Amino acid sequence: MKRDVIIALDFKDGKTALNFLDKFVDKKLFVKVGMELFYAEGPSIVKEIKERGHKIFLDLKLHDIPNTVKGGMRSLSHLGVDIVNVHAAGTISMMKAALEGSIREDGTRPLVIAVTQLTSTSEERMKEELLIESKINDTIVHYAKNAKKAGLDGVVCSPLEAGMVKNAVGMDFITVTPGVRFDDGEKGDQVRVTTPKNAKEIGTDFIVLGRPITQAENPVEVYNRCVKEFCE
Ligand code: C5P
Repeated sequence: MKRDVIIALDFKDGKTALNFLDKFVDKKLFVKVGMELFYAEGPSIVKEIKERGHKIFLDLKLHDIPNTVKGGMRSLSHLGVDIVNVHAAGTISMMKAALEGSIREDGTRPLVIAVTQLTSTSEERMKEELLIESKINDTIVHYAKNAKKAGLDGVVCSPLEAGMVKNAVGMDFITVTPGVRFDDGEKGDQVRVTTPKNAKEIGTDFIVLGRPITQAENPVEVYNRCVKEFCE
C-alpha cells in the first residue's frame, strides 16, 4: 500500500460520520473507525462506509486471551476491512492467533498491525503507573520485534518512532502513526506528536489524523493540506 493519510472518524454516531464524509464529494478516502463509532453502530457502519468505496482501518485494539482474539478477528476480518489491530502487550501468541483469525475463506486478509505504546503515553506514566522501568523507545522497538516475530504486517506508533522501528525491524514493516499535528494547531491529549511534513521525512507509511481534520472549520481544506505535505 502506498503512503496515505487516514482520517480518524471519532464521531458519536453513524449519521454524524456519514454527514462528515459527504463533505468529501467524489473522494475515495482511507478512514479509521474506532471504538466510539463501532460500539455505537456496529458492523453496519463499516459496511456502509465500504459501500461508498472508502478504505477502512478498523481500530479496535484487541487485547484478550489468544482464542478470544482469534474469534474476534475472524468476525472483524469478514467485514472486508483493510487494516485491523491488536495490542502488542497481548504477547506473541495472542498476535499469532489474531493473524490466523484474520484469514478469510478465500485466503485474503486485512493488514494486521499491533499498537506498541499509545501516543498519549509518556515514559513517566509508564514508570509511575505501570511499573515499567525500561526506556519508552526500548519498549516500542521490543514490541515491534515481537509483532514481526508473530508475522504481523506492522505497528501503530508515534511518527517520531517510525524511523527507529523501521531500522530495527525492516523497511517494509508498516508504520501507522497517529499523533500528527500542524505546528499551528492544538495538541489535545497527544504527547508524542509531529507534523505531516516531518512524518514524511521520517518515512512512516500512514499518518492518522482525527480532530485536526474532523473539528476543522473546513475539513476538506485541512485534509488536502495533509495530503500535500505528506503524500506529494
Ligand atoms: O484526534 P487525534 O488526531 O488525536 O486522533 C488520533 C486517533 O488515533 C484517535 O482515534 C486515537 O484513538 C488513535 N490512536 C492514537 N494512538 C495510538 C493508537 C491509536 O492516538 N497509539
